[in-house]
Amino acid sequence: MSEIKNPLMADIKEVIFTAEQIQEKVDFLGKQISFDYQDKTPIFIGILKGVFIFMADLLRSITIDCQVDFLAISNYSSHARSQGEVRLVKDLDLPIRDRHVVFVEDVIDTGLTLNYLLKNLQERKPKSLEVCVLFNKPAHRLIEIPARYCGYDLPDRFVVGYGLDHNEKYRNLDFVGLLKAEKIHSS
Ligand code: IMP
Ligand code: MG
Repeated sequence: MSEIKNPLMADIKEVIFTAEQIQEKVDFLGKQISFDYQDKTPIFIGILKGVFIFMADLLRSITIDCQVDFLAISNYSSHARSQGEVRLVKDLDLPIRDRHVVFVEDVIDTGLTLNYLLKNLQERKPKSLEVCVLFNKPAHRLIEIPARYCGYDLPDRFVVGYGLDHNEKYRNLDFVGLLKAEKIHSS
C-alpha cells in the first residue's frame, strides 16, 4: 500500500524536536528510572490526555516491574488556572499509600497544575513521590517544581505533537513542532 502523507504537516511551521530526538530522550529517561527503582515496583501516574503518548513510550523503555494509572482534570478557565484550581474528573484507580510514585507529565509550563496535583497525591502518603517531565518551559514558571527526571527545555512557544494538542488536534504527530500562526487563531 502506498503511504498516505499526513495532511497535518501543512499546518506546521517548524519542527522543534524530531521523533528520533524524542525517542532518544525517552529511552534515556526510562533507563535512568529503571536503574533508580530496580528493587522497587513504582506506580507511574499521568494526567490525561496530553501525557498518553509519552507514558506509552516511557513504559516500554522501563525494564523493571511497575504499574500505571491516570488522572483526568477538567479544562479550566484562565482565571481558575491562575488561582491554581484544578478539578479532578477521574481519580486514580490504584491506592498509592506507601507506594513509590513517579508522576509523569508532558509539559510543565506555569507549574500550577502539577503543584496542585502533587499536593493532592502527597496527602495520600506515598512512600516517595518524584516527577518525570519530558518538556520543560521555564519562561512562564510561577511555582518551582522539583523534577528529578527532565527531558528537553522548550522555548516559550505553543507547541503541538507527541500527545500535545491544539483544539484536540495534532496529538498523533510523532514530533513536536510550532503551528503556523493562522492555525493557532483558528479553531
Ligand atoms: P501548567 O504547568 O499548569 O501551566 O500547565 C501545563 C499543562 O499545560 C501541560 O500539561 C499541557 O497539557 C499544557 N500545555 C502547556 N504548554 C503547552 C503547549 O505548548 N502545547 C500544548 N499544551 C501545553
Ligand atoms: Mg498535561
